[in-house]
Amino acid sequence: METVLVTGGAGFIGSHLAECLLKKGKRVVVVDNLDSYYDPAQKKNNIKILEAYPGFKFYKQDIRDFNGLARVFERHKIDKIAHLAAKCGVRASLQNPKEYEEVNVGGTLNLLELAKAHKVKCFVFGSSSSVYGVRTKAPFKEEDLVDKPISPYAASKRSAELFCYVYATLYKLNVICLRFFTVYGPRGRPDMAPYKFTQLILAGEPITRYGDGSSKRDYTYVSDIVAGVEAALQKQLGFEIINLGNSTPVTLNEFIATLERVTGKRAKIVEQPMPKADVPLTCADITKAKRLLNFKPTTSLDKGLKLFVEWYTKNK
Ligand SMILES: NC(=O)c1ccc[n+]([C@@H]2O[C@H](COP(=O)([O-])OP(=O)(O)OC[C@H]3O[C@@H](n4cnc5c(N)ncnc54)[C@H](O)[C@@H]3O)[C@@H](O)[C@H]2O)c1
Repeated sequence: METVLVTGGAGFIGSHLAECLLKKGKRVVVVDNLDSYYDPAQKKNNIKILEAYPGFKFYKQDIRDFNGLARVFERHKIDKIAHLAAKCGVRASLQNPKEYEEVNVGGTLNLLELAKAHKVKCFVFGSSSSVYGVRTKAPFKEEDLVDKPISPYAASKRSAELFCYVYATLYKLNVICLRFFTVYGPRGRPDMAPYKFTQLILAGEPITRYGDGSSKRDYTYVSDIVAGVEAALQKQLGFEIINLGNSTPVTLNEFIATLERVTGKRAKIVEQPMPKADVPLTCADITKAKRLLNFKPTTSLDKGLKLFVEWYTKNK
């Protein structure tokens, strides 16, 4: 039976991935330091869900600590790695760039070293659409030049991709960097618009809309992303970068209108200028994901937000 290491498995996407793998009978080892970027209680709840499965093992472990990580690899024969642990948040990365570099680049390098030493079959890295920076030409393609990130977070993800390339090339490690596009859904991140807006709209409080609402995001439902990660874990392709997105960007105004329909409540809107590190548009070209991973996102924003709001009202 295969053992998959899911770093960041206490978090939003990682806990969904871990649950899917466990349901399929895999052994899953999670390392996560329960970072306090958002309430660790939410992550502890995620761990509780995973503890229901016999093949699950959790280590509260910081990926910056090489020796601690090495001990996990000594205890378990790790076949594959889904590396999703990261300091998240584009705006927050401006406040604390050093920590973003240490975790997102240094932590990734630790895992690549261990993947090399233990000859793991494949290493899937959770990268981000933010590496594309500011662009107006859509959709974004994997071969587009990505040398102008506009936040420390984006720069850290791009740097980690480059280290992935180095390890794939020098040591013949099979690495797939998946560029996720604005992921949302149950257990979602409280710092992201779907969660924040739902919370405020349901409480009758104003939401902050940055800019005039014309910025566009390619919102992608978490189970579609997880299907893409699971497919990537089945592949040994040398080195690849693959977009995982919905390929249907919506404006912030359309997003708010959809959430109003789903919650049955009007949003009170306060306008603020666009933060410096926010890009105006994201839009994934998913031709490569379709070809290599048979990736087919099936969840519309309307349906995905309904599922999210249902989860939110039950759990909060
Ligand atoms: N959610 C999105 O829209 C999105 C978009 C693009 C990329 N990503 C990437 O996907 C991955 C998962 O994101 P998420 O949205 O589930 O975020 P998340 O914050 O819920 O999950 C990340 C997890 O990493 C853990 N972590 C942070 N620092 C750590 C450290 N030093 N050692 C060990 N664990 C640590 C956190 O505790 C958290 O549980 C991240 O790599 C993120 O950058 C997410």
